[in-house]
Amino acid sequence: MIRIAIVEGDGIGHEVIPVAQKVLELLHPEYEYFPVEVGYHRWEMTGCPCADRDIADLKSADAILFGAVTTPPMKDYQSVVLRIRKVLDLFANLRPVKGIGFDIMIVRENTEGLYSGIEEISADRATTLRVVTREGTERIIRSAIQLAKQRSGKLTIGHKANVLKSDVLFRDICLAEAKDAGVSYNDKFIDALALDILQHPASYDVVVTTNIFGDILSDTTSYLVGGLGLIPSANIGDRYALFEPVHGSAPDIAGRNIANPIAALRSAGMLLAYCGDSPGSNRIESAIQDVLAIGIKTRDLGGSTGTQEFGEAVLSMLRRKEVHNR
Ligand code: NAD
Ligand code: IPM
Ligand code: MN
Repeated sequence: MIRIAIVEGDGIGHEVIPVAQKVLELLHPEYEYFPVEVGYHRWEMTGCPCADRDIADLKSADAILFGAVTTPPMKDYQSVVLRIRKVLDLFANLRPVKGIGFDIMIVRENTEGLYSGIEEISADRATTLRVVTREGTERIIRSAIQLAKQRSGKLTIGHKANVLKSDVLFRDICLAEAKDAGVSYNDKFIDALALDILQHPASYDVVVTTNIFGDILSDTTSYLVGGLGLIPSANIGDRYALFEPVHGSAPDIAGRNIANPIAALRSAGMLLAYCGDSPGSNRIESAIQDVLAIGIKTRDLGGSTGTQEFGEAVLSMLRRKEVHNR
């Protein structure tokens, strides 16, 4: 039996994940769903944001649906989501941004770069070591190449090799692998790429880059489709997989039933495709499109429908299509 761990996390995670879970339960009542409580709130209550026992529970699942966790800028606090990505070795972070006339897949290296965790902090100086390894680069560029081959076959490598020697290694390994793989590819400095992707989104397909560049690029690229409420992601490793919206816990809107649950719904769709149900994933997407087409929208898209009510509309659309399909 397929077992799905459900992590709401903090903030709007408690609002958007229940919407996505209901849709999964409708499409797959035969799966087992079990909650795992981690995050900043848990740390405030117990002093521990994520115990080893929680990690073991997550590892026991076939896939994880994750909301968002608050990660405060505190010297001694370790982000729960970063810990999970690291210990489950979820090295490929796939962040699709799809709109009219373009279909971009940002492939973010998810375990090293500026997120190495190797840091020294004193009162007057703080350093973070940016680590790029051959092994880490080879596995991310190979994932990106595989995706490019399944899609339109075009790959863009984003880096800052003009300044960072660590990115000279990243770029050179990526270019060599791309050349050998026979895909069409180019490379760009990440700052120029960040503007060009907004101006000419149709010229991009798969964009592979290092950890923090992929983080920033995915938030900014979400502008093309209406913002963070819409972009899902997959964190994939060789053994485990976690699916989550690109957005965070959004404390500015949390608890008001106004968050857009589409990113969470699409993350559930990516989870289903990973579990072998691509048709189910497509059904979620077409239900979202149908609901938007009749003008049902959350506040970020100019509408006034609440998070839960949007979820109900998607559920009714799915049920209606179920009847039609019979
Ligand atoms: P955020 O993504 O939470 O919010 C940025 C802006 O986008 C806010 O104005 C928010 O209201 C809006 N927004 C986000 N999701 C939305 C949605 N579904 N519908 C409508 N509007 C939405 O980023 P932030 O404010 O910089 O960070 C808040 C907290 O979340 C921080 O503690 C941060 O570290 C954390 N965070 C966690 C994750 C994660 O768990 N994967 C990801 C990003 C940020
Ligand atoms: C994301 C977030 C995380 C990241 C933070 C919360 C640690 O911004 O998932 O995009 O930087 O990866
Ligand atoms: Mn981010």
